[in-house]
Amino acid sequence: MNTYRIASIPGDGIGVDVQAEARKVLDRAARRFEFGLEWTEFDWSCERYLETGRMMPEDGIEQLAGFDQILLGAVGFPGVPDHVSLWGLLIPVRRAFSQYVNLRPVRLLPGTTSVLRDRTADELEMVIVRENSEGEYSELGGRQNRGLPGEFALQESVFTRVGVERIVRYAFELAQTRTGRVVSATKSNGIIHTMPFWDEIFAEVAEEFPTVHSEQCHIDALAARMVQQPERIDVVVGSNLFGDILSDLAAAVTGGLGMAPSGNINPAREHPSMFEAVHGSAPDIAGQGIANPVAQILAGTMMLEHLGEAEAARAVYTAVEQVLATGEVATPDLGGKATTAELGSAIADAVQA
Ligand code: NAI
Ligand code: MG
Repeated sequence: MNTYRIASIPGDGIGVDVQAEARKVLDRAARRFEFGLEWTEFDWSCERYLETGRMMPEDGIEQLAGFDQILLGAVGFPGVPDHVSLWGLLIPVRRAFSQYVNLRPVRLLPGTTSVLRDRTADELEMVIVRENSEGEYSELGGRQNRGLPGEFALQESVFTRVGVERIVRYAFELAQTRTGRVVSATKSNGIIHTMPFWDEIFAEVAEEFPTVHSEQCHIDALAARMVQQPERIDVVVGSNLFGDILSDLAAAVTGGLGMAPSGNINPAREHPSMFEAVHGSAPDIAGQGIANPVAQILAGTMMLEHLGEAEAARAVYTAVEQVLATGEVATPDLGGKATTAELGSAIADAVQA
């Protein structure tokens, strides 16, 4: 029997609630498909930061390095600035483990209350490939003349040839396994150094994939297209910032943030990858037990796929679809009255069926 060692970081707010449900469902899948999941829990969070001054211990990265994968809830909570929670945990993990692909599959699920719920699942199925290690989320820059009339802030973006090439190539390779269409999110009319560089590399890589249909689209127009003509979109590749924004939008038009999973993937598998919901810790509903656990459970299916347990991943996905389709157990964001644990348990039971 294969046993996988998984680092579990529930984090803050609803991260804790949805993580418990994901573990419940994944454990049932493991039992049914006869593999082991050995969980190790880490209390790395804003609460820990307030006690110790650090989101994770100094050797946090080394502690995680030996695990097969990481499943993360969400981090961030009022009282700790968001840049502290992000740069104190998430970004160091993504960078240290070279998780340069942020993969965000988007698919219309039954039971959704989204504006595009009347589309078919065929029309609304896409995947956002977000660059996850450089780009606009950089530490370069600074602030000067604080508090003076001449105060200013300068933030630099970093686009490297290696970084852009590998994410674009990943998107093309992925498109080959899907419908064979890639669209690149750009803004080379307004951002005149980095974005033309991005476009040039996109065009170069496109030449290596003659069977894949490629096009580029400005981020603003692409955002509109995602809502108006989602059937024209399959694989989207974008920089760190553009990919982040587009994937929240894609989540919103398909089922809401409560349904959108993501993977921070190290394609070479030299390091653990990290799976998480797209959403954050949702302080507005934290502690109420009403968060939708589906996004985190689907993040779990991505983890199972990455582990090579494709059959188990499919079974969990099907269980989610079955439960959502009946509409009997739904959290408030889906128009129901169920709790996080009730929806998680219903899905776990459907896995076992
Ligand atoms: P958020 O995703 O936490 O919440 C946005 C809205 O969506 C809220 O109204 C929330 O109630 C709702 N929502 C989110 N997930 C839901 C779920 N599973 N079920 C039902 N409703 C759900 O984003 P927000 O408010 O911008 O950020 C809150 C905190 O989370 C911040 O500290 C932020 O930095 C952090 N954050 C962390 C992320 C991570 O750990 N990867 C990602 C995004 C935000
Ligand atoms: Mg986001």
